[in-house]
Amino acid sequence: MRRLPAFALATALVAAGTAASRHVPRPASRPAATTLEVTSPDGRNTIRVSDEGGRLAWSALRDRRPVVLPSQLGFTFRGAPPFGDGVALGGEVRASHDGAFDLPWGEVRHVRDAYRELRVAATETDGLRRRVDLVLRAYDDGIAFRYELPAQPALGRFEILAERTEFAMAEDMKAWWAPADVESPDRQEMLYASSPISRIRLVHTPLTLQATNGTQAVIHEADLVDYAGMYLQGAKESRTLRASLATWKDGVAVRGETPFRTPWRTVQLADTPEQLAPALLALKLNPPSRIADPRGITPMKYDGIWWGMHVNTMTWASGPLHGATTANARRYIDFAAANGLGGTLIEGWNTGFDGDWMREGDRFSFTQAYPDFDLAGVAAYARQRGVAFIVHNETATFVENYERQLDSAFALYERLGVRVIKTGYVGDTVNPGGHAHQSQYMVRHHRRVIETAARHGISLVMHEPIKDTGERRTWPNMLSREGSRGQEFNAWGGDGGNPPEHETILFFTRLLAGPMDFTPGIFNLTVTRSGTNRPRTLEEARPRSTLARQLALYVVLYSPVQMAADLIENYEGQPAFQFIRDVAVDWDTTRVLHGRIGDAVVVARRAKGTGEWFVGAITDEERRTVEVPLDFLEPGTRYVAEVYADAPDASWQYAPTAIEITRRPVQRGAMLAIRMAPGGGQAIRIRRVP
Ligand code: NOJ
Ligand code: CA
Repeated sequence: MRRLPAFALATALVAAGTAASRHVPRPASRPAATTLEVTSPDGRNTIRVSDEGGRLAWSALRDRRPVVLPSQLGFTFRGAPPFGDGVALGGEVRASHDGAFDLPWGEVRHVRDAYRELRVAATETDGLRRRVDLVLRAYDDGIAFRYELPAQPALGRFEILAERTEFAMAEDMKAWWAPADVESPDRQEMLYASSPISRIRLVHTPLTLQATNGTQAVIHEADLVDYAGMYLQGAKESRTLRASLATWKDGVAVRGETPFRTPWRTVQLADTPEQLAPALLALKLNPPSRIADPRGITPMKYDGIWWGMHVNTMTWASGPLHGATTANARRYIDFAAANGLGGTLIEGWNTGFDGDWMREGDRFSFTQAYPDFDLAGVAAYARQRGVAFIVHNETATFVENYERQLDSAFALYERLGVRVIKTGYVGDTVNPGGHAHQSQYMVRHHRRVIETAARHGISLVMHEPIKDTGERRTWPNMLSREGSRGQEFNAWGGDGGNPPEHETILFFTRLLAGPMDFTPGIFNLTVTRSGTNRPRTLEEARPRSTLARQLALYVVLYSPVQMAADLIENYEGQPAFQFIRDVAVDWDTTRVLHGRIGDAVVVARRAKGTGEWFVGAITDEERRTVEVPLDFLEPGTRYVAEVYADAPDASWQYAPTAIEITRRPVQRGAMLAIRMAPGGGQAIRIRRVP
């Protein structure tokens, strides 16, 4: 097979659509309090900034009704006075932009990028007279702001201990949150909960909020390049959330030197849950692609021995059950080739997994294979069969060990024709050298890995990652990541695995940040941890899912790489596997047909290239029928729907594999009644009748 060249890296920024910026300088400094605002092109979303009483504050409105009340801004520095009080606004500059850009891969092809911008300087009226600029933007799908710290004598090198940014929400909205203060502060693998804002402690972003009038607000961040990740800190009986930054080991959040700019703080706004996805605000707030020719970056489905390790029929470590043998790799590559899957992931091929690897991760080699794994031979075999061999790199958070080997390992992979790597960061600050996952240290590390990979023509799937803030716009080789509870918890989660409502929440929370490598497609739904199929109790970990729902997840949970996660023998002779063969991983467009957070989701996506539609529907633990109109199909065209539905007696508890596969003609205007079992779902392929 032809070896793909390393991506050509663009030296200059690629021109972004049809940009038209207008800079209109306005008179500087005003005597009394200054309040300035900017409103989105559609006139609905407004962001304001004011220096009332010398205090810097921002607020947000939708349809002129407050969503965020005046909320403080500023920083607490180490060794310097805080910034945010005793300031005056001045020197406003306005700009607007009406453009668009295309994504090389994604849940949509085309992104409209239109906003209005206000830039204003906040300068201390006394003392050090430091200046911080605020850039505020209003889009039709939300608002954003960032701080820019210009170079100046009184603000050169700095250490930020805390960001004073607050989000004083106008009402005690219902929040859907993942805790950030349980077990390890930066662990992103806790279940979601919901409560009023006033019951929140420390949570991850994206944080999804719902007002009584239906307004949806999602707090997140964008363009996190050299800063600390932001959590949100609640206070008892308060509707105000405060930015809380992950820190270095010494308690400093951010080290930097002016000129410097922070990530964007974003609030995505919508009228209904359905309008929240696809969430494209963060992409618009990241710089254009640095990869001039992204053709070597290919969305794909992949298989792998991965589940074997999680259900204990195989091991990462050497020994009689070692999974990553040359023979196993060839079997999985053959299966991928025979079934049109683009790749095969092999975990446990490299030395370092023997012993307590989670605590001794500095023993990992990223170039040396176990003796029963022929690295070059497997890579060559995969190339010959036209399958991407996905190399696994588990760091166990021993980042320095990984960075030491990064250049030589990636150079080796490039020579072997490897185009995709799955990285992993199991572990936490307990490990020597371990840093908080969302810390500036790790933000810098991940950028280094992404850029090194790009130089070698390699794309990445990251587990235990830094959160997604839209990097894929700039670095489309950053394909997907985990960053929440995936399928693996259904093998060993101490609490029985993910509850059936889990993915109906993920869609409206974690997935609003970007793609997730959830790894759907478990067919043997009664497997136990010992790998046998004795009937298990309902309390034991297992996928709390029907088979039809496992298929629906390929459409619902967007990712440009989707694993067929089960062991390949469990796909043999299974008619339902046809859906995994058929389903696309790259889309022209996406439409959410029905969405109730924590209850149910129905999504339709049109596949790039073929024009086929795929519909994925999932419910929580409730049996449910959702009716959706097929108004997205083209008029006057005949289609056939291939429907993978829960059988009438199906349920995740007692009959998870009861599935009905049927075919019927459909056309635009027809209503689809999607019937789902408890813990169930439905997957549909709709193609034109030739
Ligand atoms: C956790 C990852 O999420 C999982 O996919 C992987 O198999 C293990 N770590 C081992 O690296
Ligand atoms: Ca994980």
